[in-house]
Amino acid sequence: MEVLSVSSEVYPLIKTGGLADVAGALPGALSGTGVSMRTLVPGYPAVMGKMKGGREVARFEDLFGVPGRLIAGRAEGLDLIVLDAPALYDRPGNPYMSPEGWDWPDNWRRFAALSWVASELGLGLVDGYRPQVIHAHDWQAGLVPAYVKYGPSSTLKTVMTVHNMAFQGTFGADIFAQLRLPQHAFSVEGVEYYGGVGYLKAGVECADAVTTVSPTYAAEIRTPEFGMGLDGLLNNRSATVFGVLNGIDMDAWNPATDPALAQTFTASTIQSRQANKWAVMEAFGLDVLDGPLFAVVSRLTWQKGIDLLAANIDLIVNEGGQLAVLGSGDAELENTIRAAAMRHPGRVGLITGYNEPLSHLVQGGADVLMVPSRFEPCGLTQLYALRYGCVPLVSRVGGLNDTVIDSNVAALQAEVSTGVQFAPPDEGALATAIRRTLALYADQKSWKKMQRRGMKSDVSWATSAARYAQLYSSLSGMSLHDNP
Ligand code: ADP
Ligand code: GLC
Repeated sequence: MEVLSVSSEVYPLIKTGGLADVAGALPGALSGTGVSMRTLVPGYPAVMGKMKGGREVARFEDLFGVPGRLIAGRAEGLDLIVLDAPALYDRPGNPYMSPEGWDWPDNWRRFAALSWVASELGLGLVDGYRPQVIHAHDWQAGLVPAYVKYGPSSTLKTVMTVHNMAFQGTFGADIFAQLRLPQHAFSVEGVEYYGGVGYLKAGVECADAVTTVSPTYAAEIRTPEFGMGLDGLLNNRSATVFGVLNGIDMDAWNPATDPALAQTFTASTIQSRQANKWAVMEAFGLDVLDGPLFAVVSRLTWQKGIDLLAANIDLIVNEGGQLAVLGSGDAELENTIRAAAMRHPGRVGLITGYNEPLSHLVQGGADVLMVPSRFEPCGLTQLYALRYGCVPLVSRVGGLNDTVIDSNVAALQAEVSTGVQFAPPDEGALATAIRRTLALYADQKSWKKMQRRGMKSDVSWATSAARYAQLYSSLSGMSLHDNP
């Protein structure tokens, strides 16, 4: 069966976070399940640059006031349909913001256009292609289920995946008139949200099924604390809300072959990680020492608990540890980490900006990957850490709860732990977790066993891809190998 995935990012063409990794890996992960997945993405410069061999399959004279066209083709192993609309997407900066860091004021139009085009594709109006299901990711594709619900009647089904409740795409009511939806769509059953228009709300309301990226987050977002205004709606439709854990691309993230590593390794050659540790120390300007090397690869934001980390840097250093931070985000948090690096030369290093190869090297060389998030829908960096023998130290929320086995007494006795968890996500609990981690590290024999268990834990897409395939099949009523 045919499924159209709609995403505002897709690795390796365009990435600001985990959404890209998931959208990029899912089509390949589904191969063999009977689902064939194409991906619709906006034609940002980075995407258009890879579509030289593509062919034009549709033209739109009036795409919310500007012209556009669809280019179909393959790039980086993905089967893509690209919405080439230079007036909307041919801009510098990241997919959502100007280089100066402000949101593009016409984001409502940029992503309404993407979603509207997806629904046209879903109706079979382009090039003979007719998917049975559209899988919409995050608020940028949130209007897809609304366009399908209020469009011409069809058997097309929609799945809405929430990767992060914190980003909802809410706009003023004044944009509604331009969305090409019937007046009655501006209602609680449609796109209306607290008097304005909510793109993610529309998707969660109108989709045939809603998924999020871990079972724990699926439960958390039904509470006011994590639901961010959508908990009531999710509770109303809880029979069709599912948590499907993300996996990772096992080829892109393979320590046995990774070209970004100074030295490749496997679970049985774990001592080879040492060359990577030295390379990380060099990259971050750290002294070559024997203590544990803690690391962070993250957006530097409140969600990620970077302030909790900052409050514990002196502890890490005083106990003989070192810290390498790769990330960018809030200027204030960046400055706090930078100040710590200056306070502790050779012990703490910060590299800002986005650096994919360096993120691999850090996973292959650091001893501990810290993810002290306040909330975390799934989190991918702890999965990369497990695969790379870097022990995750995580808060016990969302997907972090579902993927790391805490080294509590029972787990240590049974020899099943793969990391350290702490709760609640606050400074004191993180301090205790750091002390526990230091104590575990001191026993190198059992530490190495824990690293090996992590490397062997299943972080692949196998189980979850089968779950998505099953979901598409049950929604569409089609068996997985049917192709009409
Ligand atoms: P989120 O999507 O909330 O940012 P995830 O853990 O799901 O969190 O995904 C983050 C992704 O972005 C991972 O692939 C991680 O390796 C990557 N990443 C984050 N910061 C950087 C950075 N500064 N350089 C390179 N990769 C980064
Ligand atoms: C979001 C979440 C992150 C998740 C990613 C991919 O960015 O913050 O937890 O891993 O989406 O689903």
